[in-house]
Amino acid sequence: MNEQPENIRKYNQVMWDALVDLNDRWTVPVGAEVIARARRGEFSIVLTPAKPVPGEWFPNLQGCEVLCLASGGGQQGPVLAAAGAKVTVLDNSPKQLEQDRRVAEREQLEITTVEGDMADLSVFEEASFDLIFHPCSNSFVPDVRPVWREAHRVLRTGGDLLSGFCNPIIYIG
Ligand SMILES: C[S@@+](CC[C@H](N)C(=O)[O-])C[C@H]1O[C@@H](n2cnc3c(N)ncnc32)[C@H](O)[C@@H]1O
Repeated sequence: MNEQPENIRKYNQVMWDALVDLNDRWTVPVGAEVIARARRGEFSIVLTPAKPVPGEWFPNLQGCEVLCLASGGGQQGPVLAAAGAKVTVLDNSPKQLEQDRRVAEREQLEITTVEGDMADLSVFEEASFDLIFHPCSNSFVPDVRPVWREAHRVLRTGGDLLSGFCNPIIYIG
């Protein structure tokens, strides 16, 4: 079995920054036509690689305060912002966040980007968000329980947490 790197968060930061340079699929920002459609309320975003999230899973996005948790890359955050949400993207990779800022600037969208650890959301007050959008990212933390505790704390009562999970079978070599 492979040994875990000593500092998992740092390891993942270096790796995801490198994946941006390699144009990995999960780091490529959406184009202008995707944003134009989202402004008309037509959008399709994913939590898992293949299936779009059903539209009825989303609350009314107009003015909805959304935390895109470990969801940098200029993908879901800008789309949700174009659809009317007030979006904050928290991610551990400066280069992934740069992708969100690049789309925001190009499309004149307001998006807040925060570099941080999904397991420590202390930068946010409790009950700050109506929706947390958390794609398949929790496989990058050694213990997922702090992520859920923090998500619960920063989510408003009645808010929604949408999360994707990797089946461990994908790691079988
Ligand atoms: C698969 S990508 C998710 C973003 C992508 N837009 C998507 O649709 O899946 C995984 C993301 O998790 C982030 N990440 C890894 N460890 C993290 C941590 N401890 N805290 C916050 N983000 C983390 C990475 O930087 C990367 O942007």
